[in-house]
Amino acid sequence: MQKKTVRSGLVGAGFSATFHFEAIEKVYGANVEVIGVHAKDMDMARAFAQKREIQAFESLDELIANVDVVHVNTPPYAHEPVSVAALAADKHVICEKPLTGYFGDGSDDFHWDNADMEVALEQALTSVERMLEAERNSKGRLMYAENWVYSPAIQKEREILEKTGAQILWIHGEEAHSGSHSVDYAYAARCGGGVLIGKGCHPLSAALYLKRVEGRVRDGKPIRPKAVSARAHAITKVPDFRDEGHIRCDYYDIDDFSMIHIVFEDDTIATVFASDIVLGGIHNWLEICANNHRSLCNINPNTAMQTYNPVDANFRDIYTVEKIETKQGWACTSPDEDFFTGYPQEMEAFYRCAAYGDSIESDMNLAADSISTIYSAYVSAARKGAEVPVKAYG
Ligand SMILES: NC(=O)c1ccc[n+]([C@@H]2O[C@H](COP(=O)([O-])OP(=O)(O)OC[C@H]3O[C@@H](n4cnc5c(N)ncnc54)[C@H](O)[C@@H]3O)[C@@H](O)[C@H]2O)c1
Repeated sequence: MQKKTVRSGLVGAGFSATFHFEAIEKVYGANVEVIGVHAKDMDMARAFAQKREIQAFESLDELIANVDVVHVNTPPYAHEPVSVAALAADKHVICEKPLTGYFGDGSDDFHWDNADMEVALEQALTSVERMLEAERNSKGRLMYAENWVYSPAIQKEREILEKTGAQILWIHGEEAHSGSHSVDYAYAARCGGGVLIGKGCHPLSAALYLKRVEGRVRDGKPIRPKAVSARAHAITKVPDFRDEGHIRCDYYDIDDFSMIHIVFEDDTIATVFASDIVLGGIHNWLEICANNHRSLCNINPNTAMQTYNPVDANFRDIYTVEKIETKQGWACTSPDEDFFTGYPQEMEAFYRCAAYGDSIESDMNLAADSISTIYSAYVSAARKGAEVPVKAYG
């Protein structure tokens, strides 16, 4: 069969645009032509474009008009307007996590500590509904770039669930490291909250996904979240926090530690931790405790390779593993970090969907349930852990 050609464009020219571009280059099921990039910071867009020999578009509309697939690699506050504009033009969208959220009341002195979480939940869900509506009215699909869903360990777990009909009793997991590189990340008004949404969305979405798979296999319909209890803290803001320079602590108004406990429709549970206060590199894992097996999905670090290096400087030009503070001593050096993270696999699936209409595992319904669970968790955290119902979507 002749491979179809799909033209794509990126909105945003930073960290995630870079790994999206690299993952697109590995797509083999379709011919993907990256046409160009647009970003609010056009100097950034021009530098990104020049390095990759693509066009830098001055306007979003111009980029959308010239492509079939739009990648949304902006901070979360811009995910909805960019995605809706692309869907309105019948283009496919690959939207980074989190899908959308609540981005304050527009005032200059907005501070998350003073925000009403009931309002945050209501407005986040209204945003989700606008995006669902935009997809319904479009010939394009919204593909939710939740790479955890496509990581090889989570996909192997999907196979186990499908072939054994397992019942998941408890999932627990974590995404943590010592703080995001992004300037925007310090402000809840740009990211829709702090670590609970920014990092918590990854293990949470993977847990929601696996319960969807379990339900799909057994009863032909997903098992959805029913209620949450959560805590959120700003540990680097406590008066006695002692900064030794290893953990980022210049945030404006975000939580840097969170725990969400989810109860599903079938009364089974998941517990998800997310934090910015953990040294030793990125820590991304999910453990599945089922009635017929138990799986430890170590996304990062894992032991595919381990290195011992007696002198830090010897590994100066060698990438080892994300966000590790030192290259000296033993390390879980990753031979192909993007592969274990699921970036090339998600791009392959998304371009097969765009080119041939193949189904996708990480779609709007999963993204919508993830946002709904997250903002119910913020309501719970504001009530110091009281249980809050979750509105489930698809
Ligand atoms: N899946 C993952 O592993 C992963 C990792 C990092 C970031 N992300 C997500 O990717 C998204 C972007 O994060 P990043 O780290 O790439 O940020 P970044 O700060 O590195 O880059 C953001 C880019 O967006 C542009 N931008 C900002 N507002 C815009 C607007 N309104 N319109 C057009 N362009 C705009 C900026 O000019 C910049 O080029 C976030 O949603 C983040 O959560 C995902």
